[in-house]
Amino acid sequence: MTPPFTTAIVPAAGLGTRFLPTTKAVPKELFPVVDTPGIELVAAEAAEAGATRLVIVTSPGKDAVVEYFRPQPELEEMLQRRGKSALVDAVRRAQGLIRVETAVQEQALGLGHAVGCAEGNLRGDDEAVAVLLPDDLVLPTGVLIKMARVREEQGGTVLCAFDIPREQISAYGVFDVEDTADPDVKRVHGMVEKPSPERAPSTYAAAGRYLLDRAIFDALKRITPGAGGELQLTDAVALLISEGHPVHVVVHRGGRHDLGNPGGFLRAAVDFALQHPEYGPELREWLRDRIADG
Ligand code: UTP
Repeated sequence: MTPPFTTAIVPAAGLGTRFLPTTKAVPKELFPVVDTPGIELVAAEAAEAGATRLVIVTSPGKDAVVEYFRPQPELEEMLQRRGKSALVDAVRRAQGLIRVETAVQEQALGLGHAVGCAEGNLRGDDEAVAVLLPDDLVLPTGVLIKMARVREEQGGTVLCAFDIPREQISAYGVFDVEDTADPDVKRVHGMVEKPSPERAPSTYAAAGRYLLDRAIFDALKRITPGAGGELQLTDAVALLISEGHPVHVVVHRGGRHDLGNPGGFLRAAVDFALQHPEYGPELREWLRDRIADG
């Protein structure tokens, strides 16, 4: 049986303004969550879900993101000579996960535009592609596997949603949904950006995982710039819905970290560090003392 998707797209060409001034020089996708950049975490997630190819959309000046996946034989040899085999494994890990290709987005014209820039990388048999936003960690991993199962059953496009408390809903894109037999799968009729709690059509908010039917690339060519003058991926999904294309969400019952802003990034780093065998115990103790000090 052919897998529902083998190509995953990771848009990494944004300006990262919420992380200025650091993003003047360092792409936020490379910021370390303890010692591993977010882009490696999503590459591992894509590979775990069955992807064999990762198309990273970069912009001129953000080459370091792709460089991260290239082998570094001299560094490996040096570490090998010094007997640092755990570090050799760490250095090799990213390149062994998945085959990486690049697409270039010359100007940050929006997430939809970035995804469209990867069309030239598609192969004839790519009937659907996964898109993973590298600044959105969806935990535990595995939601893409369930999304692929839903596409097999229902066809069309499958998105990921979190059930958010209604009073917090106005920070999100919110789905207008209808129940299906599976309580974690909903049929999508539309989407509203950042509604007030009273006007929100549901409490299901969009997350950075998409399993998009190839039809999205045609839809992306037919939309016009939306919020912020950018080509929005959700506008292309909305266009498909209006044309009768089936769209479902999988409600992910788990956690999430937004690595795209300093507050969210710090939480992720602390969360991962607390679970780290080397750094966790000491950090826990230090945090306890630090908080007690006020
Ligand atoms: P974000 O809105 O979180 O990233 O887009 P950003 O635009 O870089 O950040 P701010 O808002 O200026 O701080 C989600 C993902 O989509 C990519 C980003 O790199 C990020 O991984 N993206 C966004 C693009 O690749 N191109 C774009 O034009 C916009």
